[in-house]
Amino acid sequence: MINALRGMKDLTFEESQRFVHIITTAIGVSKKYGYNYIETPILEETKLFKRSVGESSDIVGKEMYQFKDKGGNDVCMRPEGTAGVVRAFIQAKLDRRQNEKFKFYYYGAMFRYERPQKGRLREFHQFGCESFGEASVYEDFTIIEMIGDIFKELGIGYKLQINSLGCPNCMPSYRENLINFLTESQNELCEDCNRRIGTNPIRVLDCKNKKCQSLLLNSPKLIKNLCNSCNKDFQKLIELLNSENIEFEIDTNLVRGLDYYNKTAFEFISNDIGSQSAIAGGGRYDKLIEFLDGKPTPAVGFALGIERIMELVKMPEIIREGYYIGAMDKEAIDTLFSLAHKKRVSDKVTIEYSPKKLKAHLKGADRVGARYCAVIGENEFIEKKIWIKDLVEKKEKIISWNEF
Ligand code: HAM
Repeated sequence: MINALRGMKDLTFEESQRFVHIITTAIGVSKKYGYNYIETPILEETKLFKRSVGESSDIVGKEMYQFKDKGGNDVCMRPEGTAGVVRAFIQAKLDRRQNEKFKFYYYGAMFRYERPQKGRLREFHQFGCESFGEASVYEDFTIIEMIGDIFKELGIGYKLQINSLGCPNCMPSYRENLINFLTESQNELCEDCNRRIGTNPIRVLDCKNKKCQSLLLNSPKLIKNLCNSCNKDFQKLIELLNSENIEFEIDTNLVRGLDYYNKTAFEFISNDIGSQSAIAGGGRYDKLIEFLDGKPTPAVGFALGIERIMELVKMPEIIREGYYIGAMDKEAIDTLFSLAHKKRVSDKVTIEYSPKKLKAHLKGADRVGARYCAVIGENEFIEKKIWIKDLVEKKEKIISWNEF
């Protein structure tokens, strides 16, 4: 027997319903905020992710599904959605329309070769949004509010954590301070952190090792060293969240695992799904578009982790809908198709192709979740009529095929 690869999952029956429910809810909310659908390929040139997500990140350094295709091109299955959307944005020359704003939503499979565990897959799905052309912190707030709306509609509780990662004005001097601090404590930091001092010191703040964590309590904090503009924006974000009663906490060690962020960074956490607790993450990435050779364009976005959210979502009670239609005798079966076809203009219809007794048809209607069970019996066939039972109201009637 051939099984799915390790860390990759099929979604069948109840799970696939939850999946669709989450995606449709997220699409519904994001449309209300002015987002339009964008579809980009799963396979991209490897250098796209190296340049955007960053060579020193774990995602690019350790987790890429990277290979040479038959033409010898170095390609990679996307580990996240932002880089591809930015590439598409530049390729469509939308970066040249500097006075316009563009808002895109997307969903689909992402691939990271991580060690699989609960909430951590090698193929997983994201729903994401990217907003281009809006530099105002109002947009950061609006995106956070929108994610809150999606979770509210799904009936999910969360904890919101925010931080500011500064900008090219304040980040470099902070980086220097941090490197000095980390170098002094080098002997006590774990192996990973030691490596990161030289490659990506900011990521040290995010280390899960207990000893490193306790050392970092005394590390310099970026939000205390923000330049005026970054500080003003961060304070405004806090003010907006407070005034709209959106609860949050400031996590000065929240740095995100991707290198393209600046200013606002945020994560939505759930306490009910174990150690892989981030159910959404995002932030501002104002430099990425020019970094990928586009015209400078401010941008902010986020992605939801669908499988993690699936652990939390309770499906709304199944509402019986549509028709189940069958016959008791073989001769009547052909009649079912034209009746069903007309009915399908407005309703869901399931046809049973085999003749059965009434009781079996009622069971069949129940199994497919139909509201109405419609059956052509021996007499009904002669009289061109059909028997219908409303399985919710428990009422029956016989009507002509025309009326049906
Ligand atoms: P990310 O934080 O890497 O951000 O991923 C977003 C979400 O995807 C996470 O919060 C988590 O729920 C889910 N996720 C990540 N890795 C896995 C995995 N191995 N298994 C299951 N779920 C996972 C990004 O990808 C950014 N592109 C978000 C963004 C959009 N920032 C700006 N725009």
